[in-house]
Amino acid sequence: MAKIIDGKAIAAQIKDECRAKVATLKEKGIGVTLAVIQVGNDPASSVYVGNKKKGCEYVGINSLAHELPEDTTEDKLLDLIGELNRRADVNGILVQLPLPGHINEDRVICAIDPRKDVDGFHPASVGALCIGQPGFVSCTPAGIIQLLVRSGIEIAGKECVVIGRSNIVGKPMALLLLRENGTVTVTHSRTKDLKAATGRADILIVAVGKPKMITREYVKEGATVIDVGIHRDANNKLCGDVDYDDVAPVCSAITPVPGGVGPMTIAMLLNNCVESAAQTI
Ligand code: GUN
Repeated sequence: MAKIIDGKAIAAQIKDECRAKVATLKEKGIGVTLAVIQVGNDPASSVYVGNKKKGCEYVGINSLAHELPEDTTEDKLLDLIGELNRRADVNGILVQLPLPGHINEDRVICAIDPRKDVDGFHPASVGALCIGQPGFVSCTPAGIIQLLVRSGIEIAGKECVVIGRSNIVGKPMALLLLRENGTVTVTHSRTKDLKAATGRADILIVAVGKPKMITREYVKEGATVIDVGIHRDANNKLCGDVDYDDVAPVCSAITPVPGGVGPMTIAMLLNNCVESAAQTI
């Protein structure tokens, strides 16, 4: 039976490390502040933003909440970002996505000072990751690397297959696995023989966005399986992109949903905020 990778426990470990680093910075007179901007009140976004605020509170990061109405203009949002960019006491700026349709997300992301881009979405951050320079890394893929490393799963030389090519997960995930010396394949909706590709994976990262799509036919015996998806099944129970009950018996390690990748995203966001503050010394 597979080892269950406990994302909740590993995230708690990282949050405690952040808490200690925040305390050390405070002793040096440096506070850590994250500005969180939400436009409108999409219920899922409100839950994510609430969890981010709770995480900040736990580690000792000040969070500045900017809750703007749905009809906020793009110019108004860009002005706020400009103001937060200039504030020396703000170390991180996070704009919760998705934004309302009348606002251009790319323009908004580009307006954030890359030194405060704790989400790692700015083209300068993505470019830096691509060419091996320092910069903030998107939190979910960065969290997955921590799950693997802290579970003692070696990446170097391994066949790593990523399903999904989004800017937030799939692409940065592939770059990070490459940075760790994995042999990386990125698959997506137009991949001709998905099972043939995933069947070669020693480490399979699943970010397809389809509930329980990945069954044991996609998985090599003894593989490590990381599930990025989160959905509700027909019985309103949380589930991932991986059919956990079917896959767990054939793999060597697997992340559960909930309690796998999910908690790592916030832990890495907090870690990025602490790093940003530390860089101001
Ligand atoms: N919406 C869904 N996930 C994320 C995330 O990680 N960061 C931001 N800013 N918005 C999101």
